[in-house]
Amino acid sequence: MAKYMPEPFKIKMVEPLKMTTKEERIQKLKDANYNVFALKSDDIYIDLLTDSGTGAMSDTQWAAMITGDESYAGARGYQRIIDAVHDIFEYDFVQPVHQGRAAEQVLFPYYLSKDKVCISNMHFDTTRGHVGLLGAEPVDIVVPEASDTQNFAPFKGNMDVERFEAYIQEVGAERVGLVIMTITNNSAGGQPVSMANMKAVSEITKKYKLPLILDAARYAENAYFIKTREEGYADKSIIEITREMFSYAEAFTMSAKKDAIVNMGGLIGIKNNSEIYEKVKGLTIPYEGFVTYGGLAGRDLEALAVGLYEGLNVDFLKYRIGQVEYLGSLFKESNVPFQYPVGGHAVFIDAKVMLPHIPYYEFPAQALVCELYIEAGIRACDIGSYMLDVDRKTGEQLESEMEFTRLAIPRRVYTQAHFDIVAEALENIMKRASSIRGYEITWQPPVLRHFTAKLKPIIK
Ligand code: F0G
Repeated sequence: MAKYMPEPFKIKMVEPLKMTTKEERIQKLKDANYNVFALKSDDIYIDLLTDSGTGAMSDTQWAAMITGDESYAGARGYQRIIDAVHDIFEYDFVQPVHQGRAAEQVLFPYYLSKDKVCISNMHFDTTRGHVGLLGAEPVDIVVPEASDTQNFAPFKGNMDVERFEAYIQEVGAERVGLVIMTITNNSAGGQPVSMANMKAVSEITKKYKLPLILDAARYAENAYFIKTREEGYADKSIIEITREMFSYAEAFTMSAKKDAIVNMGGLIGIKNNSEIYEKVKGLTIPYEGFVTYGGLAGRDLEALAVGLYEGLNVDFLKYRIGQVEYLGSLFKESNVPFQYPVGGHAVFIDAKVMLPHIPYYEFPAQALVCELYIEAGIRACDIGSYMLDVDRKTGEQLESEMEFTRLAIPRRVYTQAHFDIVAEALENIMKRASSIRGYEITWQPPVLRHFTAKLKPIIK
């Protein structure tokens, strides 16, 4: 079993948790139409729905918030964000926005339009959604190791470079509007991308004159994996590794709700192309607000400027990724199958292996999400066929390569005993795995359905 990494902080403020009974949870889940997004958070004991915006801010971040300048234009916090982005990423231009998907909404129209293709190691769901809303086609080209959940590979988040180049040749470079490297690769299991892979992708994009950007929500976790797993980086600092990663792209979108440890915030960074920046400013004003606040309060900008640095702290990263590794090691002991090795922000249970009797169109990962809530009040989420949606042209359910139930770990929130409870719950569920039923959708919206769809268990 992995040793639990002690917290590099002490706790100054607490939020009580409510206990519920199994009977209550069965009823609440039914009332929520088997969609855990419809549950009240007060009815959840351990909330592993997401690591996004759910972290605990430090006293330094809270202190910075008090100094927030709430001026409509030219607020002090804006300058602090510009300084931090110059320093950490070495990019000339930055546009704050209210979260990651806002960054996508504002930046993507510069690159994508109807019939263009957007290639990524893997699109996250909102990214896929924004590509689709522009009439473009999202294409994922991740390495095959990503779907081999039982065997170790250090960088399962990588782009499959050979298939990437072959695909560009097949569709024609002129159809490819954008290439996005998602670091870490959330949908593949929070898996890192190696520096060598980023370099190789960047060389191919240069060869075909294609724009390359980063989806940088988990930039610091990716840098930590490079430091600990890739030859030649052990002695480099996290910030040095971060700078090199960002040097390969011309822009980034970032949900700052992850590695920058704020409850709300996002960024668009542009290395040096003022034409892109002008376009971004033009769309920010109608969608997000004036450029110096971009949908955020002045105090949010302050917390974000501090968080960008806190996320890079190597002791923090060691503890954080250590926590995820600890949970993974408990699963290993009870033979719960998961994407191995664990990713940076979450453990992804392999529901395809755990519930082989449930076909993809009956959503095995969502079935496990429901079981976890009933068993112990734990909230997780599906990253599989349920999230993937239907084919826009044919209306047929798409089959996800992987059926994951994601247990995402909020930053600086839960402690060792909470993880022990999660492991025990899964061990119990494993014992009755063969009796778990699949689900069918009774109602769904046209885009990003998993947030609001209604489901019911299939009775055979
Ligand atoms: N890109 C990646 C890789 C993400 O993981 C997310 C969000 C976004 C973009 C969008 O950012 O939520 O700030 O608008 N991921 C969250 C998650 C929601 O739970 O993984 P956002």
